Amino acid sequence: MRKPLWAIFVLSCLCALPAPAQAGGDPEVGKSLFFGTTRFRNGGAACVACHAISGLPGGGGTLGPDLSQTYADYGEEGITPVLAGFPFPSMKPIYDARPLTPEEQAHLKAFLRISAEGEPSGEKGWFLLLGLGGFLLVTGLAHIVWRKRLSEVRRPLLRRAAGPGRGDG
Ligand code: HEC
Repeated sequence: MRKPLWAIFVLSCLCALPAPAQAGGDPEVGKSLFFGTTRFRNGGAACVACHAISGLPGGGGTLGPDLSQTYADYGEEGITPVLAGFPFPSMKPIYDARPLTPEEQAHLKAFLRISAEGEPSGEKGWFLLLGLGGFLLVTGLAHIVWRKRLSEVRRPLLRRAAGPGRGDG
């Protein structure tokens, strides 16, 4: 496969990615809270101290589990009370004294949601499919153009190779 075609494929996929939904929290704010770029209002520790999101640069601690699929595991209903209270022995002591504000919980939830959407499923799957369709279309067109160009070069060559007397159709 020629390189430019791959570039087109990647580009068409990137363009097809939907802008993250903003309902409730802002995933960008959630991300900066998670990684500690923005501090929690009540002074709670940044999640990155103990958690990583696989697939995102910046690493993260390994004391707690990877949270990339947590939203998918818990669902919208399940994750809300977790973020509000963190009912885990290792987290409760930290965040009971320094709870997250409702806004911070919403931002983190939005961030965990788009992180969990990394897998091609549901809506995202459709957009990827569209990207793939675009890629196939472009490849097909390139192929047709290329073939035509080839045969234009090839026909006289074939004629010459056939030599005199053998007819050139
Ligand atoms: C001091 C380390 C530490 C910090 C800081 C921390 N966590 Fe945790 N977290 C843990 C550990 C350890 C667990 C595993 C549950 C347990 O306590 O047994 C966990 C579990 C979780 C779970 C449940 C995951 C699952 O798969 O069940 C979620 C969600 C979570 N943390 C979110 C967060 C968020 C959001 C933050 C930042 C506001 C954060 N944590 C900060 C240590 C931490």
